[in-house]
Amino acid sequence: MKKGSLISNKKKRFYITTPIYYVNSQPHLGHSYTTIAADVLARYHRLQKDEVFFLTGTDEHGAKIEKAAQKANKTPQQLCNENSKLFKKAWQNLNISYDNFIRTTNSNHIKSVRKVLQILYNKKLIYKGTYKGLYCLGCEQYKTKSDLINGKCPDHQIKPEIIKEENYFFKLSQFENLLRKKIMSNEFEIKPEERKREVLGFFKKGLKDISISRQKIKWGIPLPFDKKHTTFVWVDAFLNYLTGLEWNGNLKNLPKFWSPDLQLMSKDILRVHASIWPALLLALEIPLPKKLFIHGYFTIDGQKMSKSLGNVIRPEELVEKFGVDATRYLLLSACSFGKDGDISWEKLFEKYNTDLASGLGNLVARIITMAVKTKNQEPRIKIKDQNLEIKKVIQNSWQNYKKFLASCELDKALREIWGLISFCDRYIEKKRPWEKSKNRLSVINDLLIILTNITQMLQPFLPETSEKIFKQLGARLNSQEWCFKVRKDKILFPRI
Ligand code: MSP
Repeated sequence: MKKGSLISNKKKRFYITTPIYYVNSQPHLGHSYTTIAADVLARYHRLQKDEVFFLTGTDEHGAKIEKAAQKANKTPQQLCNENSKLFKKAWQNLNISYDNFIRTTNSNHIKSVRKVLQILYNKKLIYKGTYKGLYCLGCEQYKTKSDLINGKCPDHQIKPEIIKEENYFFKLSQFENLLRKKIMSNEFEIKPEERKREVLGFFKKGLKDISISRQKIKWGIPLPFDKKHTTFVWVDAFLNYLTGLEWNGNLKNLPKFWSPDLQLMSKDILRVHASIWPALLLALEIPLPKKLFIHGYFTIDGQKMSKSLGNVIRPEELVEKFGVDATRYLLLSACSFGKDGDISWEKLFEKYNTDLASGLGNLVARIITMAVKTKNQEPRIKIKDQNLEIKKVIQNSWQNYKKFLASCELDKALREIWGLISFCDRYIEKKRPWEKSKNRLSVINDLLIILTNITQMLQPFLPETSEKIFKQLGARLNSQEWCFKVRKDKILFPRI
């Protein structure tokens, strides 16, 4: 902090994570949805000049991967190498700006997981016992009878297997009360509210100690204190959020970005993230993440999209048809962030044509064409001379936009931008700037200013498109005056 100043110059830190995805399957729209959302928030915070770390990656151990490798006649490591590459490629195609891509087969991760397990064992928070119960391979999660519908896991439509084994257990139950308090007080925030209620309801049944090792699964990290066992894949996976920041398992030296400001995921993995994950941190005396935000499922015909159900849409199919930015837009605007949404090709095409081709694309073309046609090739607008009505509309939109991004209501932030787009369309119809009148230039200036603001708001969502619009606008802010060097370019979103 500067001497005598109350305003800190220290940059705010923003650490955001996605789940690490299983490499038994290839990336699909569900994975893309979470990752694009995280990318938008990371880009938004970077634009706010925050110091951002955005982590994603792949979850590479466990029974599910072992089985998939066997089926594909590959070694598990081969399968992991191949499929984690596909995730990296998908994120490159979708213009995902992650800061690190963690793989749980990386050697620093493995070493750190073993260190952590040894610490927990030394603290007597891990003990030997016998596990008997149900296990769904699809979820890689323990199940009780009440979790099943007609004896099957509702997400994967498969019967869980019955497991009976001598295992090591983690004393999860010991942390139930403390965790409940932290969730209730929002010190460990779970959003949306209905998801917090769901977690508290789940806590009402009581948290039981969980088995954290397996003897029959060979593809996993061996326990440091008993090599006959491998580590339960979730314990291994959770620690990625620390090792992804290059943490080496030293409790006295936590990474500077710790703890996560926001962890995005869907409801399938909420319970484990609201119980086992924070309990491990409490056990290690490491600060908890600040917020989990749980978004809904994309369904096709009302069913979760998943490899086991065979109804997967690949992100590259969408990128091929619509382009990168349109894919980002179509996914994030498909449903309210936090609620389930059903998608279909028909709806996607319709939205593309309405919102992007006729909406944004058409507006940009109209404004630039009008601005180019004026003799005044380089419009200049002093901020102090700006039309007050327009200024108010823009300010109001920015306020809402920022509020929505702060509360992860991404679809609403987009709607705010599209509200400005329709405002411009109405303004054009009302003012008819193509007719020769003395106000013509000022109307075009108003439109250029609004379009500049629309483009700024679009930046985190549609990074390439906003760059293209900025080029067409040639907008510069020179000491309290906007200057434009407009030039026409290709249509942004051709109708399909
Ligand atoms: N590997 C675990 C996560 C470990 S994190 C420490 C896992 N992997 S997963 O590949 O199954 O990914 C689950 C996540 O992918 C969901 O929580 C969600 O973020 C995303 N989605 C997968 N399918 C989805 C839909 N159909 N709809 C929306 N998002 C979904 O669980």
